[in-house]
Amino acid sequence: MSTKVEMKDIVNLSQARWFVYPGSEIYGWLANSWDYGPYGSLLKENIKNLWIQAFVQKRTDMMLLDSSILLNPKVWVASWHVGWFSDPLIDDKNTKERFRADKLLEDLIEKLADKAWGLQAKYGVSNLIPESWSLEKQTEVMRWEKVKNPNTWEVWDWTDAKKFNLMFRTSQWVTEDSSSTIYLRPETAQGIFVDFPNVLRTSRRKIPFGVAQVWKAFRNEITPGNFIFRTREFEQMEIEYFCEPGKDLEVHAQWKNDCKNFLISTLWIKEENIRMRDHDQDELSHYSNATTDIEYKFPFGWWELWGIADRTDFDLKAHMSESKQDMSYFDPINNRKFVPYVIEPSVWLNRLFLTVLADAYTTDGEGENTRIYLKLDPKVAPIKVWVLPVVKKIGEDAKKVFTQLSEDFMCEYDEVGTIGKRYARFDEIWTPFCVTIDSDNFAKNKVTVRFRDSMEQEIVDLNELNEFLRKKMK
Ligand code: GAP
Repeated sequence: MSTKVEMKDIVNLSQARWFVYPGSEIYGWLANSWDYGPYGSLLKENIKNLWIQAFVQKRTDMMLLDSSILLNPKVWVASWHVGWFSDPLIDDKNTKERFRADKLLEDLIEKLADKAWGLQAKYGVSNLIPESWSLEKQTEVMRWEKVKNPNTWEVWDWTDAKKFNLMFRTSQWVTEDSSSTIYLRPETAQGIFVDFPNVLRTSRRKIPFGVAQVWKAFRNEITPGNFIFRTREFEQMEIEYFCEPGKDLEVHAQWKNDCKNFLISTLWIKEENIRMRDHDQDELSHYSNATTDIEYKFPFGWWELWGIADRTDFDLKAHMSESKQDMSYFDPINNRKFVPYVIEPSVWLNRLFLTVLADAYTTDGEGENTRIYLKLDPKVAPIKVWVLPVVKKIGEDAKKVFTQLSEDFMCEYDEVGTIGKRYARFDEIWTPFCVTIDSDNFAKNKVTVRFRDSMEQEIVDLNELNEFLRKKMK
C-alpha cells in the first residue's frame, strides 16, 4: 500500500534521517537556506555522478567544464542579465510583504478557470501568461481584480509592480564603489559560452559537441519556498550542446528524449509522474526558438523540473559583440564559417534531489506495522551496504569485511543495539544490502547478505562478496 505523499512527510523524513537540515539553525535559521546532512550529501553526489556518467562519460560528443562563479561583469551585460534578469516585485503596503506579481496573477487565473478568458478582452492582453504582460498591466489587473495577499486574505492595497533584478551583487575590492560591482552567477551557462573559444581550440572537436557543467549558482528569489524546491543558492547541472544552424530542432528533440530517459531508466522516476510541456510562442525567453519543460508531479502539483531550450546563436553572438572576439566555428567539410546554435538542457540538482525523494517515498502496512522507506535504486542510495556483526565480540572480523567492501562501495558499520533494531535502522535509511557477520559462517569464510526490499537472505562466500553485490546493484 502506498498513500499519497505530502510535502510535510518529505520534510520530516529529511530532517529526521540526516538528509537535509535548516541552514544556520542554532541562530534561528537563515530563511530558505538548507544544509545537506551526511546521507543527503551522499545522495546528492550520487545523482550528480550519474548525470556526469550518462551525459559525459558514456558519450563521445561531450566534455566537462568547471568555470568560475565570479565572472567579468561584462558577461552579464552581454547576456542581458543586468538589464533583463528580473521578476516583477509587488509589495502589500500594509504588511510590507513582498510577492511576485506574475505568480499572484497566475493563481488568480487558475482560480477563475474557464472565466479567466474574460480577462483578455477586459484588459486588452493577448494571452493568459502574466509573466509576458507589462508591469503597468500586471499592476492594473492586480488592483482592479482586487487580488488578495495570500497570507492575510484581507488586504489588496498594492504598490506598483517594479522590476527586481535577481542577481546577487558583491564587490571585488575593499571599497564598495559601483565600479567594483561583480555578481554571483545566476546560471552556469554563461561560463560555458565564454569558454567556448578555449574549448574549441584545445579540444579540436567538430560540431556537434557539448559541454556540461555542475555547480553553484545564486538567485535572489522574491518568493523562495517549498523546502528545497526554490532556493536562493543551488546547484545547476547544465549542458550547452553546439550544433549547426538548421539542425537545432532535430537536436532539441533528441535531448528531450535523452533527459526523459535519464529520469526513468537511471534515476527510476515513475513515468506517470513525468510530463513534457512545450512552451507557447508567447512564453518563450528572448533567446529561445523552442523550449520544452519536463514537469514532475510534486506533492504540491505539476512543476517544471528540467528545461530544454533551443537558445539559437543568441549567446555566442552577444558575447562576440561585447568582447569583440570571433566565436564562430569553421566547418572544414563544407568549407564554411558559422556561429553555432545551442541546445541547453538545464536542471537544478536540488530540485532533482527533491524529485528523487518524493518519487521513492513509500509506505507499506497499516497502523503500528506501517513501514516507511525510500524505494531508491541501489545506484542512487546514499549507503550501499550496511555491515553488522551479530554480536559485538566479533567486531574485529566484521571490520575486516567492512574494509573489504568499502574498497568498492559506500558502507556503514554498526555494532550498537540488538540485531532487530539494527535491521530496522538499516531499513529506515534505505540501504539496499545488509551484510551480517556471525562466527559460524565467518569460520567458513562466509557472511549473510540481506536484501532490503524482499527481506530475503543469502549466504555468500567472502571471496565473491564484492562481485556478488556489484552484480545485484546493476
Ligand atoms: N541557463 C538556463 C536557466 O538557468 P532557468 O529556466 O532559469 O534556465 C532552469 O532554470 C531550471 O532550473 C528550471 O527548470 C528549474 O527546474 C530550475 N530552477 C530555476 N530557479 C530555481 C531556484 N531558485 N531554485 C531551484 N531550482 C530552480
